[in-house]
Amino acid sequence: MKFIVTENYEAMSRTAARVISGYVSSHPDCVLGLATGSTPIGLYRCLVEDCEAGALSFKDVTSFNLDEYRGLDPQHDQSYRYFMEHNLFSHVDIDPARTHVPDGACPDADAACAAYEQAIAEAGGLGLQLLGLGHNGHIGFNEPAPEFPKETHCVALTESTINANSRLFDSADDVPREAYTMGIGTIMAAKEILVVANGADKADIVRRAFFGPVTPEVPASILQFHPNVTVVVDKEAAALCQ
Ligand code: F6R
Repeated sequence: MKFIVTENYEAMSRTAARVISGYVSSHPDCVLGLATGSTPIGLYRCLVEDCEAGALSFKDVTSFNLDEYRGLDPQHDQSYRYFMEHNLFSHVDIDPARTHVPDGACPDADAACAAYEQAIAEAGGLGLQLLGLGHNGHIGFNEPAPEFPKETHCVALTESTINANSRLFDSADDVPREAYTMGIGTIMAAKEILVVANGADKADIVRRAFFGPVTPEVPASILQFHPNVTVVVDKEAAALCQ
């Protein structure tokens, strides 16, 4: 595991963007796994700048996002599809037909998840997977659990996640109760993994995930077993790692 400590959020974003742009430049027709959340917004901005400067192209890239709320239309401003359009896809030259986010509007959960796994397999599997890190060690919507879920599946959101997300919706009743997420097995099958985390509030989980015991109670800890992981954090998030 490569563990890179940067000065601040901007430096973390630029460093992580360099990992992605390096990967895309050397594998122009690669399959990228992408994440939403507040952490990657800065790195997506850097990728957009690189594209605008003509230094990077997503022309032949295929993408698969980690997760999506179940029951939200792609046009909903809290859907992860909307987030990706807004923060990356509409600003770069990626072919919209090659961008994939689990279909939150599909009422048949089993069919939606199976179709997603199949689409990833048909694309040749994930090349580089980008991950953010939840405060409890979740990656995607894979929350602490007695075991590591393998494939794309439907999860019931915890009360704390629903409450945390309610600030983004008109009311708590509007927050989706379920989500589709890649499984830990799906993520671990990626050829390379890039994790980003910033801020003092992530310091404890960064230490537990990357320097603590591997356990499904800290889902990100499984990444210690992946052969090609780069973790890019700011110094606040690294504060508890020696
Ligand atoms: C997002 C995702 C989540 C986030 C995690 C961290 O697609 O799958 O696991 O990466 O919740 O979120 P932020 O970056 O907002 O702290």
